[in-house]
This record gives sequence, C-alpha cells and structure tokens, in this order.
Amino acid sequence: MSDPDSTGLARGLTNYGDPDFSLYLRRSFAKSMGYSRELLARPIVGIANSASGFNNCHRDFPQLIDAVKRGVLAAGGLPLDFPTISLGEVFLHPTSMMFRNLMSIDVEEMIRAQPMDAVVLVGGCDKTVPAQLMGATSAGVPAVQLVAGPMMPTSYRGERLGACTDCRRFWARYRAGEVSTDEIEDIESNLATTAGTCAVMGTASTMAALAETLGMTVPGSAAIPAVHADRLRAGEASGTLAVALAAKGPRPSEIVTEKSIENTLRVLLAIGGSTNAIIHLTAIAGRAGVRVSLARLNELSDTTPVLVDLKPTGQHYMSDLYAAGGIGALLRELKPLLHLDCLTVTGETLGERLAAEQDYVDRSVIRSLDDPFQPHGGLVALFGTLAPNGAILKRSAADPKLFESVGRAVVFDSLEDLSRRIDDPALDVTPQDFLVLQNAGPKSGAAMPEAGYLPIPLKLARAGVKDMVRISDARMSGTAFGTIVLHVSPEAAVGGPLALVKNGDRIRLSVEKRRIDLMVDDAELARRRAVLVARAPAPARGYAKLYLDHVLQAEDGCDFDFLRQAC
Ligand code: FES
Repeated sequence: MSDPDSTGLARGLTNYGDPDFSLYLRRSFAKSMGYSRELLARPIVGIANSASGFNNCHRDFPQLIDAVKRGVLAAGGLPLDFPTISLGEVFLHPTSMMFRNLMSIDVEEMIRAQPMDAVVLVGGCDKTVPAQLMGATSAGVPAVQLVAGPMMPTSYRGERLGACTDCRRFWARYRAGEVSTDEIEDIESNLATTAGTCAVMGTASTMAALAETLGMTVPGSAAIPAVHADRLRAGEASGTLAVALAAKGPRPSEIVTEKSIENTLRVLLAIGGSTNAIIHLTAIAGRAGVRVSLARLNELSDTTPVLVDLKPTGQHYMSDLYAAGGIGALLRELKPLLHLDCLTVTGETLGERLAAEQDYVDRSVIRSLDDPFQPHGGLVALFGTLAPNGAILKRSAADPKLFESVGRAVVFDSLEDLSRRIDDPALDVTPQDFLVLQNAGPKSGAAMPEAGYLPIPLKLARAGVKDMVRISDARMSGTAFGTIVLHVSPEAAVGGPLALVKNGDRIRLSVEKRRIDLMVDDAELARRRAVLVARAPAPARGYAKLYLDHVLQAEDGCDFDFLRQAC
C-alpha cells in the first residue's frame, strides 16, 4: 500500500506489492516524457480536459489549457492534463443529461486514481460543469473550476444574434411561415459563430455564474467571453491558484455547504437562470450531503428580485454582462441577501472578496435591488395533485396572463406521439388548452430531454399564438421561454399522477398559490391507476442499464442513488 499522506508523483501508487519499486517505475516512465527529476518533484496539478471534436463550445480549449499550464509552471507546480468525457449538448443521443452522471464518475475516479495534489476542471457546455463539480466534490481533492466562457453574439442584418434564444425565436417564426427556407439557412450560419458556450443566460452561463457564486472559480471569471484575452488570463490565474490549493486547500466539500448552496439559489433567481440548474445544483449539493428544498426555493424566490436583463428573460447577452461588471457586480448588489462568511477557493470568504472589488456597474444590464428588472425571482416550484414531489416553472420567461388559469388537457403519451400529432390539422386544440407530455422523465427511456418546450401546434402558431401552458416531466433548455411546467415528479414512467392524465381532463395552474392540480376525482384516478401499464423500459446491459437502475427523480438532482451522500 502507498502512504495515504504522500504528495506529488508518490500519491496513490500503482500496486505491485513494493511501494519503492512502484515509485521508481512511475518516475522512470514519467521521465520518458522528458521531465527532469526536479520538475517531477513539484506538486502536481491535474487539468481535467473536456475538449472533443464533438463539442463546439470547447473548441478553443487547447489554447486555454496552455494558459493554465503557464500559471501552474510559474507558481512552481507541474501541470499534467488528462482527457475526460466531453458532453457536447447537441451531439448526444438521446440526451446529454443521460451522460452527466457518467462524466461525473469519470472525473471523480480519474482525479482519485491519478497522482495529483489539486485539479483545474476545464468545462463549459451545459452538463460538463455540473459533472465536474459533482465528481470533484466526491473525489475530495482541492479543485478550481475554469469555464469556457460565452460565445460572442453576431451582427446579422441589423440585429444581434446569439445562441440559442434567437435559434428558438427564428425557428418559431419559420414554423409560423414568417421566415423563408432560404433565410432560415442563412440564420443557421449566424447563430453560433465563435468558440464558447451559448451567448445568453442558458444552462451553461447559469452554471458558470453559480460556480463563481459557490466560490469554486477564480473571482470575476464566469462571464468573460471565450475569445477575450481575459479568458486566457483567467486560465493562467486558475493554474496559479491550483498550486496554492495543492499546499493548503480548501477542498470542495469545505466550499459546497448549505449556506453557499443557498447563495447559489439566490443568484439563480436573480439572473433568471436556467431551470436545469435546479437539478444540477441539487446533484452537486447532494455530493456534499446538502439537501436542496423546493419549498425553500419558493421562500427565496419571493424575496429575490431578478436584477439581470439578459436573454431569454430580457434583452442582453453574456458579453454585455461581463462588460457591465460581471458576476462580481451582481453579487455586490445582492450582498444584503447573501451569506458572506462562505469560504471560497482563494481562501477568502465571499464577503472579503466583495469588499476588495471595484464598484463599477452598468445599470442598463445589472439593476439595483431598489430598481429590479422583475420584482420576484425567476423560478418557482409548484406542488399539487399533479406533482406531489414538485415541478418547476420559470415565471420570468413566461406569460403572466396564463399564471392563474384552468385548461383542458391535450395529452401526448410520448415524444413520438408528440412529433406525430402536434402539427396534425385535425388535432383538437385551442389556445386556452394545456398541452401535456407524458413519459419524458429521467426513467422514461428518453432520459429527460429538453422537450418541455412543446411547440405551439402549427395551426395555432400560424394564427399568431405565441404561448400556451405546457406541462411535462421533461426539462427545457435554459435558453427557452414560455409558460412551461417542467420536472413534474414523480414522473409518468414510474406511475406518477402525470401518467393518469387523459384528453379533456381539467388542470388548474396557480402560480400565486404555487399549485398544479389535476381536477379529476380520486375514484376515477384509482380506476385509471388499476389499468395503468408500466412504461419504464428495462435495457439488458451497459451504461443504459446502470442509468435506469439507479437514476433518481428531479428533486434528487437525477443523480445516481449510490453517488449521493445521505442528506
Ligand atoms: Fe454548449 Fe449551448 S451548446 S452551451
């Protein structure tokens, strides 16, 4: 056995039954890469590299990782990068969400199995940062998160375009017949034109902001555009910081606490952030034994205004947020609502960090607490007979006229059923109906896709209908907008009440009361339950089997049951 207190190259020796031989052999093989004995004696900083030819958002990682290495070397460490799984959002079938936990296992195990005293986690695209933070929290090695940074918006025929709120806006107009086939092809080439993550407050930008709030990044780095020289400087600073972390920590489990998670919930609400972040934060917190309560989310939502005017809720892009003062300016504004004694990766508390910062802020992008963009938080949790364990609505991106309404259910029992019938001219649907999608949750076989943004039926879209109440156990892209109830739990595939909804049932939505109720009497529901056929598939092998056997519901972050710490 190797010495558990060993550092550098001597950490976690390969087991040959003779530790001295193991170290001698490891040094020898490391020297085959051209390193001197002096360099091999330094603290080792691992760099978890999630670049991939299947991930456009990470396309400039080679340059960014060079900057990290520069910082590590200058601070007296030895940088060694290693590849991990990469999750390019639009390249994965059935969804990137299915593989988030797999990536977290990869990150955790490779941090633990290889000899590193600290690690820089380089990620960005939606699921990569949650996976890295989950893995690093479980691995217990000091870690600093470095994000890719957002793409720049593009100028196109007199307006700014950026992935991916504008992708959806133009696609909706194309479906409605307002944009031609030639023009949509032109727009396709102009939506995502630089390296980096989606340019709006989607899931990737939200997770970057939350990683900084949590205290896991170099201060001020979350919103730096991918192509800005400051992004490379943030890479260098992350490498330098990792060498300091190697000597004295703190470890992620000292940073991910009940208070710091509550701070991240505040910021999530204040930025009108992605609904996906609730699931990811719950999973990250769960790795540290911290529980995220949806009831507490509602309390925070009532007392946290939306301060940031960014798409999809508002009008600006992430590069504007950076120029306006970045996440630091937002945190300073939220100071009275935050726990300032939370430890950050620099060793300072959040309060110490904010006290040391300059006070520039552009009020057209980051509003003050006295003059918020919206008076209440961006997200609310709903409970009721349709969602006993909760559901989520992004009210900041929804139509308030629909918040207190009763609608007739128009039900689709699967994604296939949805795509087959949604545009059928004979579909019995009116703008006042509630569209309901079943069997798109974590255990459905579809792996909880971002399908909760059900398209408006073509005949209604062409008549000018822009929003309807839509309900599902699926997720929604952080870049989407609409009156959309998501993450309904328990999901339909495990027999949740959502599975019992039939065409023509009445459903009541009350955002004010935080309720979503199926208005069908208990006796009828019992009759339906007695003949309900189980829909959860049972694959025989491989990761799909591991996933379906162990994935938890949305309120537990869709983590695997054997990876969470008891909360
Ligand atoms: Fe990678 Fe949007 S596709 S962040």
